Amino acid sequence: MDSVAEIKSRLSIVDVVSQYCQLKKAGRNFKACCPFHSEKTPSFIISPERQFAWCYGCQTGGDIFKIVQLLEGVDFKESLKILADKAGVELPTNFSGGVKKEKKDLLVEINEAARDFFVAELRENSEAQKYLQNRGLKKSTIEEWGIGFAPDGFENLFPKLEEKFPKKEIIEAGVAGLKEMGSEKLFDKFRNRIMFPIADHRGRVVAFTGRVLDDSEPKYLNSAESPIFTKGAILFGFAKAREGMRESKFAVIVEGQLDVISAHQKGFKNVVASSGTALTEMHLKSLKNIAERVVFCFDSDSAGVESTIRALEIAAALDLDSKIAILPDGVKDPDEAIQKDPQIFADAITDAVSPLEFFFRKVFAKTDLNEISEKKKVVRRLLTFAQKITSAVERDDFIRQAGTKLGIAESVLTEELENLPRTFSTMIEEKEIHADKISARDWLIGLVVAFPEVAKEFDEELKKLGLEEIEIKENEEKLALLVSDKYSEFSDEKIKKELESLFAKLSKQSLEERKHDLKMEMQKAEEEGDDAKAAELFGEYQKLMGK
Ligand code: UTP
Ligand code: MN
Repeated sequence: MDSVAEIKSRLSIVDVVSQYCQLKKAGRNFKACCPFHSEKTPSFIISPERQFAWCYGCQTGGDIFKIVQLLEGVDFKESLKILADKAGVELPTNFSGGVKKEKKDLLVEINEAARDFFVAELRENSEAQKYLQNRGLKKSTIEEWGIGFAPDGFENLFPKLEEKFPKKEIIEAGVAGLKEMGSEKLFDKFRNRIMFPIADHRGRVVAFTGRVLDDSEPKYLNSAESPIFTKGAILFGFAKAREGMRESKFAVIVEGQLDVISAHQKGFKNVVASSGTALTEMHLKSLKNIAERVVFCFDSDSAGVESTIRALEIAAALDLDSKIAILPDGVKDPDEAIQKDPQIFADAITDAVSPLEFFFRKVFAKTDLNEISEKKKVVRRLLTFAQKITSAVERDDFIRQAGTKLGIAESVLTEELENLPRTFSTMIEEKEIHADKISARDWLIGLVVAFPEVAKEFDEELKKLGLEEIEIKENEEKLALLVSDKYSEFSDEKIKKELESLFAKLSKQSLEERKHDLKMEMQKAEEEGDDAKAAELFGEYQKLMGK
């Protein structure tokens, strides 16, 4: 396999794109607000099956290489380099510009040298020490997590690093920046902040997050992404929590690094955080081999509830068991709970609830279910979630229990689910997508490419239309993507029906075309005085009239 193919086989377009925008599962595909143009309703569709992403709003997209080229502003070679790195594919040594392993090691070395510097600085700064003490962190904890302090001022760390490391790599490691474009002068990126090293899953320092000591903004400053730091892939505390997660067979996922550190300090050794970014599929995938289930314990504000729902959706799509630890009213986050009394956190985990329970406790807490319009909204919300559940058994279970709770028959909910989000008959007419007007023939091509298993039954009809071998070029990929998005919620049976109606429509179309042609030919024959031919054509025309 060549490097391109190997990278493609190892990386999912979903993982790549989710680094740039927030994805929402939409049946077989994902949707996002387009990273190439500004929009409020998502028209960027990402297909894991097709390894292709396309925006119908601005007509931009492509495969993983194209996406990285466009979003990182790099050429193909550079995109190959970035993705090879992410996939862990070693590019041939003659490949100029590949990020070699030594380079990564060097970037880690720089980050670890920076950590040592910050740790030493903390020893010199009593205000920072006091801050950490006030936050309830013991000396041993501070040591264990390599917590440090970045002194105020722009020229503290980098001059030390420059003694040992090349300027280019210091910048790339994320701890310093160039003062201005084209200049040679560096400046320290982290100033007057408590520094928390972010380790990769092997425990090597790959980045930092720095917290202010007061309430200035931004509260936390994170290292930029680099060849060794992918935000959407790294869970804070992972290396330290690995054993705890394995032993307890579950992982607790919280929002902030201080939540993690507090938890570990009190013996909750299976806690990790998606620090500085929303939880991604990659995050959860990295837990799948270690823990059997996850317990989310996000902040109790409304943003935390929203993030929880998104996290639950990702877990459901990955078929990863999940529960939610609900903190008591008035407790803001896990850290606060633990500082108050570790038992509060312990109880929340023990009493963690199912996703369905979470919806009723936190999302619909203030909803009046006797109000029919409210009840309908609740049903829609729950079924939208149900759609994301990969396991049919679990989905069924979820729907049954939802029915019991709402006093609605399961069959009714199942029917509603089938009709979500839009009804079959209106699909084709829908013009909300800004794609060029799509002909029935193109819809059909899209359907055949997107659902080859279903289309198999229509060999005969396809031959008649001269479509027995659709060449899958970019245009067909786009059609398939659009179609699979529109039809993603539909069963094979419905897709079959749709194909049938399209074939009917097309054969009617071709019939009309044939009739039109015959008329023209008849007219010509008459003009030329070829009565025999005209009569023959008329006979054929009459035959078609009956159809
Ligand atoms: P919170 O604002 O809930 O902070 O952000 P926190 O974790 O409770 O932090 P403390 O207790 O005030 O110190 C949750 C997480 O979001 C990220 C951080 O990872 C933080 O832990 N965040 C927050 C940022 O990356 N930048 C910010 O400016 C704020
Ligand atoms: Mn907090």
